[in-house]
Amino acid sequence: MEAKVELRMIISADEIHRKIEAMGCQISNDYKDRYPLMVGILKGCFIFAADLLRTLNFHYELDFLGTSSYGNDTASSGIVRLTKDLDVNVEGRHVLLLEDIVDTGLTLHYLCDILQRRNPASLKIAALIEKEIPRNVDLPVEYIGFKTPDIYLAGFGLDWKQLFRGLPYVAEVIEH
Ligand code: IMP
Repeated sequence: MEAKVELRMIISADEIHRKIEAMGCQISNDYKDRYPLMVGILKGCFIFAADLLRTLNFHYELDFLGTSSYGNDTASSGIVRLTKDLDVNVEGRHVLLLEDIVDTGLTLHYLCDILQRRNPASLKIAALIEKEIPRNVDLPVEYIGFKTPDIYLAGFGLDWKQLFRGLPYVAEVIEH
Protein backbone atom coordinates (compact mmCIF):
# COMPACT_ATOMS: atom_id res chain seq x y z
CA MET A 1 0.00 0.00 0.00
CA GLU A 2 1.29 3.55 -0.87
CA ALA A 3 2.40 5.61 2.15
CA LYS A 4 0.37 8.80 2.65
CA VAL A 5 2.55 11.86 3.04
CA GLU A 6 1.77 15.18 4.65
CA LEU A 7 3.97 18.25 4.14
CA ARG A 8 4.12 20.78 6.98
CA MET A 9 5.94 24.01 6.07
CA ILE A 10 8.61 24.88 8.62
CA ILE A 11 10.74 27.47 6.75
CA SER A 12 9.00 29.86 4.35
CA ALA A 13 10.35 30.96 0.97
CA ASP A 14 10.72 34.53 2.32
CA GLU A 15 12.73 33.40 5.35
CA ILE A 16 15.00 31.33 3.11
CA HIS A 17 15.64 34.21 0.72
CA ARG A 18 16.42 36.64 3.53
CA LYS A 19 18.82 34.17 5.14
CA ILE A 20 20.58 33.42 1.85
CA GLU A 21 21.02 37.16 1.18
CA ALA A 22 22.61 37.59 4.63
CA MET A 23 24.85 34.56 4.17
CA GLY A 24 25.89 35.86 0.75
CA CYS A 25 26.93 39.20 2.30
CA GLN A 26 29.09 37.42 4.86
CA ILE A 27 30.68 35.18 2.22
CA SER A 28 31.30 38.17 -0.05
CA ASN A 29 33.17 39.89 2.78
CA ASP A 30 35.18 36.81 3.68
CA TYR A 31 36.12 35.60 0.18
CA LYS A 32 36.48 38.71 -1.97
CA ASP A 33 39.93 38.85 -3.64
CA ARG A 34 40.50 35.11 -2.99
CA TYR A 35 39.03 33.72 -6.24
CA PRO A 36 37.67 30.72 -4.29
CA LEU A 37 36.44 27.42 -5.64
CA MET A 38 32.77 26.97 -4.77
CA VAL A 39 31.81 23.30 -4.68
CA GLY A 40 28.14 22.32 -4.75
CA ILE A 41 27.31 18.91 -3.34
CA LEU A 42 24.77 17.21 -5.57
CA LYS A 43 21.99 16.72 -5.82
CA GLY A 44 20.33 18.56 -2.97
CA CYS A 45 22.43 21.74 -3.16
CA PHE A 46 21.28 22.84 -6.59
CA ILE A 47 18.66 25.43 -5.58
CA PHE A 48 20.54 26.70 -2.50
CA ALA A 49 23.76 27.01 -4.52
CA ALA A 50 22.04 28.75 -7.44
CA ASP A 51 20.43 31.32 -5.13
CA LEU A 52 23.47 31.85 -2.90
CA LEU A 53 25.94 32.22 -5.78
CA ARG A 54 23.79 34.92 -7.37
CA THR A 55 24.09 37.07 -4.23
CA LEU A 56 27.92 37.11 -4.33
CA ASN A 57 29.72 40.22 -5.53
CA PHE A 58 33.09 38.68 -6.44
CA HIS A 59 34.46 36.20 -8.96
CA TYR A 60 34.73 32.51 -8.13
CA GLU A 61 35.11 29.17 -9.88
CA LEU A 62 32.35 26.58 -9.60
CA ASP A 63 32.46 22.81 -9.53
CA PHE A 64 30.33 19.98 -8.14
CA LEU A 65 30.79 16.80 -6.14
CA GLY A 66 28.25 14.01 -6.32
CA THR A 67 27.55 11.74 -3.35
CA SER A 68 25.00 9.19 -2.38
CA SER A 69 24.27 7.72 1.04
CA TYR A 70 20.46 7.65 1.33
CA GLY A 71 19.27 6.00 -1.90
CA ASN A 72 15.50 6.19 -1.59
CA ASP A 73 15.65 5.79 2.16
CA THR A 74 15.06 8.50 4.75
CA ALA A 75 17.94 7.44 7.01
CA SER A 76 21.60 7.58 6.05
CA SER A 77 23.05 4.18 5.19
CA GLY A 78 26.28 5.40 6.84
CA ILE A 79 28.17 4.44 3.68
CA VAL A 80 28.99 7.43 1.52
CA ARG A 81 29.74 6.92 -2.16
CA LEU A 82 31.42 9.47 -4.41
CA THR A 83 29.37 9.52 -7.61
CA LYS A 84 31.14 12.52 -9.17
CA ASP A 85 34.59 13.89 -8.36
CA LEU A 86 35.83 17.44 -8.98
CA ASP A 87 37.11 18.39 -12.42
CA VAL A 88 39.64 20.87 -11.01
CA ASN A 89 42.69 20.67 -8.78
CA VAL A 90 42.08 22.13 -5.30
CA GLU A 91 45.73 22.43 -4.24
CA GLY A 92 46.38 25.93 -2.87
CA ARG A 93 42.76 26.99 -3.48
CA HIS A 94 40.25 28.42 -1.00
CA VAL A 95 37.41 25.91 -1.19
CA LEU A 96 33.87 26.46 0.07
CA LEU A 97 31.52 23.46 0.05
CA LEU A 98 27.84 24.25 -0.50
CA GLU A 99 25.57 21.69 1.15
CA ASP A 100 21.80 21.60 1.50
CA ILE A 101 21.62 19.93 4.91
CA VAL A 102 23.97 18.53 7.54
CA ASP A 103 22.36 15.52 9.17
CA THR A 104 24.74 12.87 10.54
CA GLY A 105 27.63 14.84 9.01
CA LEU A 106 29.05 11.65 7.50
CA THR A 107 28.84 12.92 3.92
CA LEU A 108 30.75 16.11 4.68
CA HIS A 109 33.23 14.29 6.88
CA TYR A 110 33.99 11.90 4.04
CA LEU A 111 34.32 14.70 1.48
CA CYS A 112 36.44 16.93 3.74
CA ASP A 113 38.76 14.01 4.35
CA ILE A 114 39.25 13.46 0.62
CA LEU A 115 39.70 17.16 -0.13
CA GLN A 116 42.06 17.90 2.78
CA ARG A 117 44.47 15.32 1.38
CA ARG A 118 44.62 17.40 -1.80
CA ASN A 119 46.06 20.38 0.16
CA PRO A 120 43.61 23.26 -0.35
CA ALA A 121 44.61 26.66 1.10
CA SER A 122 41.39 26.51 3.15
CA LEU A 123 38.30 24.32 3.31
CA LYS A 124 34.99 25.48 4.79
CA ILE A 125 31.32 24.63 4.55
CA ALA A 126 28.17 26.68 3.93
CA ALA A 127 24.98 24.75 4.69
CA LEU A 128 21.39 25.88 4.35
CA ILE A 129 20.24 23.68 7.24
CA GLU A 130 21.86 21.88 10.12
CA LYS A 131 19.91 19.34 12.14
CA GLU A 132 20.47 19.72 15.86
CA ILE A 133 21.66 16.23 16.71
CA PRO A 134 24.76 14.96 18.48
CA ARG A 135 27.52 14.23 15.96
CA ASN A 136 30.72 12.24 16.30
CA VAL A 137 32.44 14.16 13.52
CA ASP A 138 34.12 17.54 13.61
CA LEU A 139 33.21 19.66 10.57
CA PRO A 140 34.38 23.11 9.42
CA VAL A 141 30.80 24.45 9.06
CA GLU A 142 31.34 28.20 8.83
CA TYR A 143 27.96 29.38 7.53
CA ILE A 144 24.59 27.93 8.58
CA GLY A 145 21.20 29.17 7.44
CA PHE A 146 18.85 27.37 9.81
CA LYS A 147 18.97 24.83 12.63
CA THR A 148 16.13 22.35 12.83
CA PRO A 149 15.20 19.46 15.09
CA ASP A 150 15.81 15.92 13.87
CA ILE A 151 12.89 15.64 11.46
CA TYR A 152 12.79 14.63 7.79
CA LEU A 153 12.66 17.66 5.50
CA ALA A 154 11.84 18.24 1.83
CA GLY A 155 11.69 21.19 -0.53
CA PHE A 156 14.15 23.82 -1.77
CA GLY A 157 16.33 21.11 -3.30
CA LEU A 158 15.76 18.47 -0.61
CA ASP A 159 13.91 15.35 -1.64
CA TRP A 160 11.77 12.69 -0.08
CA LYS A 161 12.19 9.61 -2.30
CA GLN A 162 13.25 11.95 -5.14
CA LEU A 163 10.05 14.02 -4.78
CA PHE A 164 9.41 17.62 -3.64
CA ARG A 165 12.79 19.15 -4.61
CA GLY A 166 11.01 22.01 -6.39
CA LEU A 167 8.97 23.26 -3.42
CA PRO A 168 9.85 26.94 -2.81
CA TYR A 169 9.86 26.34 0.98
CA VAL A 170 11.16 23.68 3.37
CA ALA A 171 8.61 21.30 4.85
CA GLU A 172 8.60 18.49 7.35
CA VAL A 173 7.60 15.23 5.69
CA ILE A 174 5.15 13.28 7.81
CA GLU A 175 4.41 9.74 6.67
CA HIS A 176 1.08 8.22 7.73
P1 IMP B 1 24.49 13.27 6.29
O1 IMP B 1 25.63 12.57 5.64
O2 IMP B 1 23.70 12.36 7.20
O3 IMP B 1 24.86 14.58 6.96
O4 IMP B 1 23.44 13.60 5.15
C1 IMP B 1 23.75 14.44 4.13
C2 IMP B 1 22.84 14.28 2.94
O5 IMP B 1 21.69 13.47 3.20
C3 IMP B 1 22.30 15.63 2.57
O6 IMP B 1 23.14 16.25 1.65
C4 IMP B 1 20.96 15.31 1.97
O7 IMP B 1 21.09 15.04 0.60
C5 IMP B 1 20.52 14.06 2.69
N1 IMP B 1 19.59 14.36 3.80
C6 IMP B 1 19.86 14.36 5.12
N2 IMP B 1 18.78 14.71 5.84
C7 IMP B 1 17.81 14.95 4.94
C8 IMP B 1 16.42 15.37 5.06
O8 IMP B 1 15.87 15.61 6.16
N3 IMP B 1 15.75 15.52 3.89
C9 IMP B 1 16.30 15.27 2.66
N4 IMP B 1 17.58 14.89 2.51
C10 IMP B 1 18.33 14.73 3.64
